[in-house]
Amino acid sequence: MNWWTEAAIDAGIEIPLVRLLHAPLRKLKSVQPSDSVLDFGQQPRRNLPQTHICWTSVDRLHDISGCKNGGYVVQISDRANRIQPSPTLAVSAKAKKMRSEGVDVLSFDVGEPDFDTPDHIKMAAIKALVQGDTKYTPATGTEKLKAAICKKLREENGLEYSTNQIVVSCGAKHSLYNIFQATVNPGDEVIIPAPYWVSYPDQVLLAGGTPVFIPTDEITKFKISPRQLEDALTDRTVAVVLNSPSNPTGATYLPEAVRELGEIILSHPRATIVSDEIYEKIVYDGREVVSIASFGPELKARTVVVNGLSKSASMTGWRLGYTASVKELAEAMGKIQSQSTSNPTSFAQAGGLAALLGPKDFEGAMVAEFDRRRRRVTDLLNGIPGITCELPEGAFYAFANAAGVLGKSYQGTQVDNSGQLADYLLREARIAVVPGNGFGLDTHLRLSYATSMECIEEGLKRMQQALTS
Ligand SMILES: Cc1ncc(COP(=O)(O)O)c(C=O)c1O
Repeated sequence: MNWWTEAAIDAGIEIPLVRLLHAPLRKLKSVQPSDSVLDFGQQPRRNLPQTHICWTSVDRLHDISGCKNGGYVVQISDRANRIQPSPTLAVSAKAKKMRSEGVDVLSFDVGEPDFDTPDHIKMAAIKALVQGDTKYTPATGTEKLKAAICKKLREENGLEYSTNQIVVSCGAKHSLYNIFQATVNPGDEVIIPAPYWVSYPDQVLLAGGTPVFIPTDEITKFKISPRQLEDALTDRTVAVVLNSPSNPTGATYLPEAVRELGEIILSHPRATIVSDEIYEKIVYDGREVVSIASFGPELKARTVVVNGLSKSASMTGWRLGYTASVKELAEAMGKIQSQSTSNPTSFAQAGGLAALLGPKDFEGAMVAEFDRRRRRVTDLLNGIPGITCELPEGAFYAFANAAGVLGKSYQGTQVDNSGQLADYLLREARIAVVPGNGFGLDTHLRLSYATSMECIEEGLKRMQQALTS
């Protein structure tokens, strides 16, 4: 249906049947708003108010002010149409709506620690506000914060950077957005191991690139092999994303495996390594996490390290992420940021400085609590018929294999894919989980255990009941 027909119907205007059936319809299909056959209120030269439409130059004016946007149909770019809204945020919105209607929904969907931001960080931001730290800062962050990031990278990761190689952004998601905007041209390929964090493919698409997925599963503990990487690399590859520990699987590569992958990438001179290390602090069983950039100067030059304070300092709402890279890439990202968001919030940066330079004891306590929950959530999931779950090696998500449940009917509801299963569980068990399709594996569900032990016990009891009946 044409937009003007839609607008007229929306406004309750009767469209003469003759115009729909005969020649004028054909004409209507091809006319532009400026055409004399169809006058449209947005054409000022015709002296029509923006709220009216008429079908021919002799037709009377029809009031369309009551219809959506006064008949104006906004053009949405191909770029925006290429991508999907974040599936995790979509589940959260559904759960929130149900909660606002009085339904007691338990959340396993959120990707943020359920601990509060430590007080010394909050106090630093409050102090900054009180002292008038409320103005623009340099677009890529304050020099002090960038120096603290360099210190962190030197002391914790053995990586030496100068402050002009650091870009502080509004969350690590924003850092990643900047990276793809700065490195990807239309037609370029970006390799993404699957399952992947939901935003990588869409950010690549937004930059005009093509995501190339390398599938993994439980057999390889959700890790890609050097052989798979070698096969996926082509002359069009401009970036390889590595996310260890991974969201959603928790997969954490051993240092030797990271080195092997790095050596393969080195043989492709155009490929940048995007190393998303946001969960580096949340690992279990004494696992060692090593940045791929630390395996020598060649790999360091190739790598853009992505990190932030959302997960390690429980600062998701503060929106602070950062990158460390070669200077040329930092400059390109800085340029993009200077023309889009400008600096991250001034007093949030003061909080970030306190997080990086202040005490870190909360990190150990948080990880110990996540460890307890990870074991419990995995045990409970493995007790549900048709569900299996590997013990995650890092991050705070259980990635449950629900293949044994799919294809069945529960309470009269046919459940054939992860989306239908998540919907069924939300409706029947009142638990919000994220379907695996958003992460590139439609047989799985992601459950965040960044929630209380009581919620875990109760939620998984409900899941068991819903899938046993
Ligand atoms: C793997 C991964 N990278 C990046 C981010 C973005 O984090 P931020 O909140 O700093 O934007 C997330 C958030 O969930 C994530 O899971």
